[in-house]
This record gives sequence, C-alpha cells and structure tokens, in this order.
Amino acid sequence: MNKNVAKKKIEKLREEINHHNYKYYVENNPVISDYEFDQLLKKLEQLETEFPDLITPESPTQRVGEKPLEGFETVEHKIPMLSLANTYTYDELREFDERVKKNVGDVEYVVEPKIDGAGVALLYENGVLVRGATRGDGIKGDDITQNLKTIRSVPLKLRSNVLRRVEVRGEVYMPIGGFKKYNKEQAEKEGVIFANPRNASAGSLRQLDSRIVAERPLDIFIYVISYSEKDLKTHEKALAALKEAGFRTNSLTKKVANIENAIKYCKELEKKREKLDYEIDGAVIKVNSLGKQKELGATSKNPRWAISYKFAAKQSTTRLNNIAIQVGRTGTLTPVAILEPVEVGGVTVSRATLHNFDELKRKDIKIGDQVLVERSGDVIPQVVKSITEKRTGAEKRKIIPKKCPVCGTTVIRTEGEVAVRCPNRLCPSRLKWRVKYYASRDAMDIDHLGESTIDKLIEENLIGNIADLYFLKKEDILKLEGFKEKSAQNLLDSIEKSKKQDLSRFIYGLGIRHVGKYAAQLLASQYNSIDKLSKASAESLKEIDGLGEKSAEAIATFFATDENKELIERLKNIGVKTKEVRKNNLPLQGKKFVFTGGLLTLTRPEASDLVKKSGGIVSSSISKDIDYVVAGDKPGSKYNKAKKLELTIINEDELKELVTK
Ligand code: IVH
Repeated sequence: MNKNVAKKKIEKLREEINHHNYKYYVENNPVISDYEFDQLLKKLEQLETEFPDLITPESPTQRVGEKPLEGFETVEHKIPMLSLANTYTYDELREFDERVKKNVGDVEYVVEPKIDGAGVALLYENGVLVRGATRGDGIKGDDITQNLKTIRSVPLKLRSNVLRRVEVRGEVYMPIGGFKKYNKEQAEKEGVIFANPRNASAGSLRQLDSRIVAERPLDIFIYVISYSEKDLKTHEKALAALKEAGFRTNSLTKKVANIENAIKYCKELEKKREKLDYEIDGAVIKVNSLGKQKELGATSKNPRWAISYKFAAKQSTTRLNNIAIQVGRTGTLTPVAILEPVEVGGVTVSRATLHNFDELKRKDIKIGDQVLVERSGDVIPQVVKSITEKRTGAEKRKIIPKKCPVCGTTVIRTEGEVAVRCPNRLCPSRLKWRVKYYASRDAMDIDHLGESTIDKLIEENLIGNIADLYFLKKEDILKLEGFKEKSAQNLLDSIEKSKKQDLSRFIYGLGIRHVGKYAAQLLASQYNSIDKLSKASAESLKEIDGLGEKSAEAIATFFATDENKELIERLKNIGVKTKEVRKNNLPLQGKKFVFTGGLLTLTRPEASDLVKKSGGIVSSSISKDIDYVVAGDKPGSKYNKAKKLELTIINEDELKELVTK
C-alpha cells in the first residue's frame, strides 16, 4: 500500500473509532458490537505498525503510554483554577442570590451536581488534546496528560468545529461500582485499599505509570469552558457545545428561573444522591448568562457567579465507646468500633469497621477517643481517624487479645501477616462463617440456609461442622423458630441437592485459606478428586501453573489436619460428590478464560458453567497465561489489559462455537 492511501485509510479509521468511542462512552449508546469495534482498532494498529511515522498523539491507539514517567512537569493554568465558595443552608443561597441581583439584576441559574472527585483542566489546540493538568494550587498544577488520555470519555480529538482552541474543566471520578470492585480485588491480593472513591481518583491520577491508570475504572464529567475563542451566550449553551464537541457532561444539570427553583432542585439532587453510581457532595449553582458571569467577576479565591451548596456530610465525629472483636471464617480477629450513635449523611451509625489491628495502631485510635466516621462509596462505615487534640488522657489503647473472645483459644499471629487469628476450627464464630461460606452462591449454593438459620443450628447444637448439615432431620429443623413443615422440607431438599455440585465448588466451599474460585477450579481440573488432591504435596502443588505458593502451602496444611481428614471422609460417605470422571477430550480442556463486559444471550453464571462443563477454567483476572478473553458489552479495564498482553479476545458467539467444536 502506498503511504498516501494508508494515510487516508488511517484517517478514516480514526474517525470511525472516535465516533464509536463517543457513542459508547459518552452517549452510552453503542451502535456496533465490541467485536466490530475491536476489528477497527486492530486494523488501525496494523496500519500504524506498517507506517509508524503516521502515528499521531491523538490517535485512538495512543491512549496508554509505553513506560512510566520520571515525574510530572509543573504547568501554569491558562486561567487560574478558582474554587467555589461553600454554603450549607438555603438562606445562604438566598443571600448569594441577593448579591448577584444587586450587581446584575435578575438572572437564571443552572444547577448541577457537585461531583466528588479530582478537578482537572484539559487544553485543546486545533481540536486536539494537548495538555491535561491537576488543579494543584490553582495557579500551577501537574501535567497529567498521559493519565487523562487513558480515560475513554476524554476526547483526544474534538468532534465539532465549534470548539477548536479551548480549555475545559471537569471532575475525574471513580464510579462507586468500580471502586467497590477495585477494593475487593485489592483486598483479595492484600493490596492497598482506597478509603473512598475521591481518594481513589486523586490517587490514580498521581500515578506515574499510565498503564496502571488505564486499569482503574475512572471517568470524567466536564462542567465548564474556562477559555474559548467562541462567543457563547450562556452556560447552558456552553454545556451543549461541550457535548457536541464530544465531552461527557452531566445529565442531571438543570436550568432554573430563580433561586427558589434552584433550592427546590438542590433538594431533589440530595434525594437522588444515594441512588447515583458516583459520589456527589453537593450542588453547584451557576449564573446562566456568561455576560453576567463576566460582569460579576471573581474574588481572589472564588467566582462571584457560582456557589456550592454542600449536602449533609458523609463524615461526622463521635465518641468511640468501645472496640469489639469479630471472629471471621478463617479465624481472623477484626476490631469493630462501637460508636456513640451519630448521624452520618442521613443514616444513624453505631458501628464502623477498623479493618485490622495494624490500622488501629497506625491511626492511633483509642477507646474513648473522638473519632471521624465516614460513610462513603460503600455501605460499611469506617473510622477515618481519631481527633487527638480532643484527648483528655482517659483514653485507653485496645490491646490485641491473647485469647479468642468467642472460644477462648490462644490466638496466633503469623510472621509477615497482618491478621491475628483464632486457630480453633471448632470456634462457634468461625463455624458460623464457614457454614455460610460452604452454602454460599459460588460454593455449594444451598438455598434457604441464611445467616440466622445457621446461627440457630449452632445454638441448638445441631451442627458442629459442615458434614453435620447432611445429617439434619426434619424434626430437628422443625424445632427451630420460624420453621414449618414446608420450609423445613425446602431446606432439606436444598442440602440434599448440594451433594451433586461440581468438584470445584466443593473444593472452594471447604474454605481453605488462599483458595478462591479460580484456584479451586484449577485444582479440580488438575486432580479430579478430593482423594488425589488431599495426597498432593506442597511441592507438587507449587508446580501447578497459576497457583500461588501461599495457596499450595495452605492446601497441604489443610489436608494434613486430622480434623479435616475426618470431615472429608464423612462428606464422602454421606454421598457428597468428591470426584469427577475425567472426560478427556472436552473441547475446552484446561483452557483458561476471563469474562469482561455484559453478555447478550447468557448470564455470567451460565457462561461460566458452560466453560467449566466443557473442561475450561474461569479466572477473574487477566494474566499472560489466560487463553481466551470473552468480551461482551462495555468491557472494562480487563479488556485493555488483555489487549496489551495480546491475548485472544473473542465474543459470545465465538465462545459458543468453541464449545461445540
Ligand atoms: S464549577 C470557577 N461545577 O468543586 C469554579 N465545580 O470548589 C469552577 N466540582 O474545584 C468550578 N463538580 O473540582 C464546578 N459541577 C461542578 C463541579 C465542580 C465538582 C469541583 C471542582 C472545583 C470544586 C469547587
């Protein structure tokens, strides 16, 4: 192909890709399948590899940098990034309105949610993104262009000719769903957890390696044009121009005729707050006319044409009355804050997590302290810090207990591990969590066996381990409060049904430390039976591709314990399926799969089962030993990672084809 032809093709492809990117990430309304989108990107990549001098920084292939930066450059903002004055009462908003009217007469307002993330400025020259910066001190910020480019809803090239040379501002945030998922994954890896979505977004933007940022589920809302050569009349029109140019603007933005209507809308937004997939900490009220905005001007810190109305804080201070200890499934002792009940963002909170004893020490939290409690991005409130200035001297440190508070067994703390654990597998508290885990959806999936039923079964001494579930009789269950003939039978039926679950679910359900769903599948496909697995040495387990060292050790230890040996024997004897007939030529034998994005004709569990039944293994994270990545609608960061690693990406139809081969 000659270069001129290639250039034309490349330009056309980029335009197409940008268009679909916009449909997908900004409008939430894709018009082609992911597979087709991929093919376009692949074609572009191929052409660019062939003609590397045609690569430009705004090409959709250039979203993620090749290597980490040494540091960020400091850049000066075109126009200082002011902050908004805060108000907390509607009367303060009315006073703001008075001041505005006194200066420029009657005005209309635009009310928007105040996004709780990290403010950034994006600069475009000739319609191409040339710079992105943090707010910094408002005058100068860090150049984080490479990081901002990884956010798919940041246009690298503008769509319309209305805005060419323009500086816009917006808020980078982490959606709550993505935040929770990210933290969960980090917790499983014993990695660093973010306290809230705001820290997660600000922390991510400070990363020097844009490849890491690309894996974080960040997004952006653009809310103002700070500089443009175009003469726009109102903020409302500016937002429309932003949208037309390809920016993601917030759909809850509303124009109102006067301050009373603005207040009404603030109330509506506050009600919606809990239902949104992103955190907002207030509303922003802006004068609509840009001419009047200019007339009003700014103080050295804040514009006089806008103000923020802050919602009830999701943080409050209260007294830490006590620290209780919870004992989890693996015996981990978790400190829990017992608080003087306090309202945090509209919800009364009396307990909060303190994570672990190391955190307690690091944060210097004592019983009797005044503490800052936060409810954010998650339902479980947490203690952020103690307010040491308020100490009276009567506060007491919580000493790590030497004995398990539930069963009295001496606790252990393994070198290098944060957790303090009760080693007694018969500890009632551990038993409860273990049964719950065994019965859970991803394990043996036993219906009708909820937490309170398990509690009752333990209290009545009806179960002392998992195997006892299978020896329960109807008259036992009928003794429990709330059970009748039918519900008792339902529970028994579900327990009976679980005997036939797949081996991998059974292995997972045993709750061996460091053995999650993926490891359980690996083990099931490798050994085909509990007998064989239980005889495997730590050394041979370590040789399994994809199984960590910690898991290998934990498995060997588990099966070396007499109590576990006995448990397995009993389960086997009562008829729980503990082996699988090896079907040798299953179509996906030993192949490792990852799913990302929504599927169209199958649910995730159905698709997982399909893979597993065909001999494949399903993993939740991307690594180089994954054989297939099944991408559906709106694939997440896993998709980008898979591309980087050049893994085989297939769609749902292709998966079905593989299975029937
Ligand atoms: S307008 C001149 N609109 O809140 C002020 N700011 O203290 C321009 N923020 O630094 C800001 N949502 O990071 C504006 N809809 C919104 C906003 C918003 C969040 C942040 C922004 C700013 C801070 C104000």
